[in-house]
Amino acid sequence: MPQGYVLGVGKTRFGPTSKSLPALAQEAIIAALGDAGLTVGDIDAFIVANYLGGPNEGRLHLNSVVAGLMPGTHLPGWRVEAACASGGVAVHDALLSLSRYGTVLVVGVERMSGIPGMQLTRNIGMAGDLDLDQGAGLNFPASYALVAQRHMDAFGTTTRDLELVSLKNHDNARLNPLAHFYHKTVTQADIDAGVMVASPLRLFDCCPVSDGAAAVVISGASRGDRSIPILGSGLSTDAISLSQRTVHTSFIAARNAAASAYEQASVSASDVDFVEVHDCFTIAEVVAMEDLGLCSPGEATRLIRDGVTSRDGALPVNASGGLKAGGHAIGATGVGQVYEVVKQLRGEAGDRQLAKARIGLTHNVGGVGGTCAVHVLGSAS
Ligand code: COA
Repeated sequence: MPQGYVLGVGKTRFGPTSKSLPALAQEAIIAALGDAGLTVGDIDAFIVANYLGGPNEGRLHLNSVVAGLMPGTHLPGWRVEAACASGGVAVHDALLSLSRYGTVLVVGVERMSGIPGMQLTRNIGMAGDLDLDQGAGLNFPASYALVAQRHMDAFGTTTRDLELVSLKNHDNARLNPLAHFYHKTVTQADIDAGVMVASPLRLFDCCPVSDGAAAVVISGASRGDRSIPILGSGLSTDAISLSQRTVHTSFIAARNAAASAYEQASVSASDVDFVEVHDCFTIAEVVAMEDLGLCSPGEATRLIRDGVTSRDGALPVNASGGLKAGGHAIGATGVGQVYEVVKQLRGEAGDRQLAKARIGLTHNVGGVGGTCAVHVLGSAS
């Protein structure tokens, strides 16, 4: 029994732009409504996913900002914030709200470019604990560097494995016109020249700083063969700081969210044809594959080396380019993952269309595993 149906999807290009936050949101909303063949009058409620509107540009009360894009509607609308998982949590929230509202619009939006680097890193770092992490300078690249070091110690993961993730995702982004690095061919020489950000993570192990928006229209009822069923939706949380955890090679919230989504969808990891995972840093893609049960702990690197996760492999991972090369417009990312999976399941992904796309999965993480939302989507029946 599907939890709901995606009737329409829309997305802006992820990457630096001069467009304002409301303009980005509007572009994605218009695209999603057009894709669904609906108008604003068909929407019963809406949810806005955003993380940095306040600290980056002094823009809060975003449900009212988005209401202004739909004049005269006065719909129930609210904002969801769960750091980089804001979008995935908003999709989960939309499914829950179908018990009251027939058709719900979710829009994820973020503006990040143009903020001085130190300030932006500090703002993003607010998703880490104020007392335990932020004051100690444990920002996001540093936190994921610790995860990478631990994974290397435990399983023999190498920097070469991480480079392969980056090369693959950049290669995929070259086929995605809405990707941050669509325009850029990345070679081994580029990767070798990348500066060290937080050892062992270098420039090409990091997602970029992106602006962008994505929107989806979700309903309790299908509107035909372009409606994509959401079969399962899992959400789990964990303590915010790595120092409050005992396991650092895996995110328990991701494992729980995946188990919950699989159970609801009545599928297992082996039924999944392709995934869009939260590769904010290359090591995060490795950990995601293991947390989702796509392989055993420590086995993801073998699949990556063997090309299994490539576009033409048996289990494509991040055919969109992922966060690494597709871009990470934080509040929009989880919604953008649903956009990509819907496009693949409908056979509308253009040059990056996968050969086998019947069951797809999204994995959206907030902080360093503090929140995780997983969605399993199936083909239209
Ligand atoms: N990967 C590859 N290339 C990148 C890049 C990345 N992550 N970030 C920037 N670049 C490129 C730019 O395109 C630019 O290339 P060009 O000279 O050909 O135009 C060049 O590097 C310089 O860009 P700039 O914006 O000055 O980079 P920077 O040094 O200020 O930022 C990082 C680099 C890694 C610090 C920044 O991308 C970053 O903070 N990423 C992580 C964001 C984050 O933490 N998100 C939340 C994760 S949970």
